[in-house]
Amino acid sequence: MSDFASQVALITGASRGIGRKIAESFAVAGAEVVFASRNLPAIESAVEELRNGSYQARALVLDVSNPEQVKEAIAKVLEQVGKIDILVNNAGITRDSLLLRMKWEDWREVLSVNLDGIYSVTREILPSMLRQRYGRIINITSVVAQMGNAGQVNYVSSKAGIIGFTKALAREVGARNVTVNAVAPGFVETEMTQGLDEKNRRQLQEMIPLKRIGTVEDVAFGVRFLASKEAGYITGHVLNINGGMYM
Ligand SMILES: NC(=O)c1ccc[n+]([C@@H]2O[C@H](COP(=O)([O-])OP(=O)(O)OC[C@H]3O[C@@H](n4cnc5c(N)ncnc54)[C@H](OP(=O)(O)O)[C@@H]3O)[C@@H](O)[C@H]2O)c1
Repeated sequence: MSDFASQVALITGASRGIGRKIAESFAVAGAEVVFASRNLPAIESAVEELRNGSYQARALVLDVSNPEQVKEAIAKVLEQVGKIDILVNNAGITRDSLLLRMKWEDWREVLSVNLDGIYSVTREILPSMLRQRYGRIINITSVVAQMGNAGQVNYVSSKAGIIGFTKALAREVGARNVTVNAVAPGFVETEMTQGLDEKNRRQLQEMIPLKRIGTVEDVAFGVRFLASKEAGYITGHVLNINGGMYM
């Protein structure tokens, strides 16, 4: 396991699901971890669990879709922890429906959290990474950004945008030793995917060469790899963690 001692990692959407597992996996690998989400009780309880195990963690209330709040919250946390070496832009939502039935609000809300959120959070954290000439930014996209998915034009557009953002920013900041990569999970068991009925779930599983749904651990492992010092020559990459669903 890579050693993240004396590094600080901030994970957005760390209250549950993939984000929470990513945050925990950095903490157990020695990093000081900032759990960020809108839900203070949820992140506080995750942080407390880790602190009880003598790991370093803190909670940060953060609504990624609110640029003013992001600015204030990131400035405050940077003052407290001194630096952020690893940023994982994980917060994301879905508001699914076919385009002809999709309301403008559902289109805007998904783009505002999934894509505008990455802009705001990264913009506030990047200057400190550039100054210290070290940083690892990992953006969570999705297999559907590569395949498309009926009923998700808003979500798929946001996730495809994240891939573009990743590659463009990787070119901007590489000279300062800041890497920017994306992780594209396939279908992962979390609250986000709970709506799928048994029949669809079985059909989906059949389509996946590895014949199983992904776990939050599968994704957290890939993120931690890209954040490691050893992955320092990887930038602008999209790492598929999808059981072979798309290749
Ligand atoms: N599950 C999958 O199959 C799958 C597949 C591909 C990609 N992904 C991506 O993986 C990421 C995590 O998904 P998940 O399945 O773990 O979803 P989840 O269980 O629904 O968790 C979503 C997380 O995002 C946070 N969030 C939502 N809106 C936010 C906002 N405005 N500001 C800050 N945080 C916000 C939530 O925190 P609060 O509600 O506490 O704020 C929560 O922690 C998402 O980007 C998702 O698109 C998931």
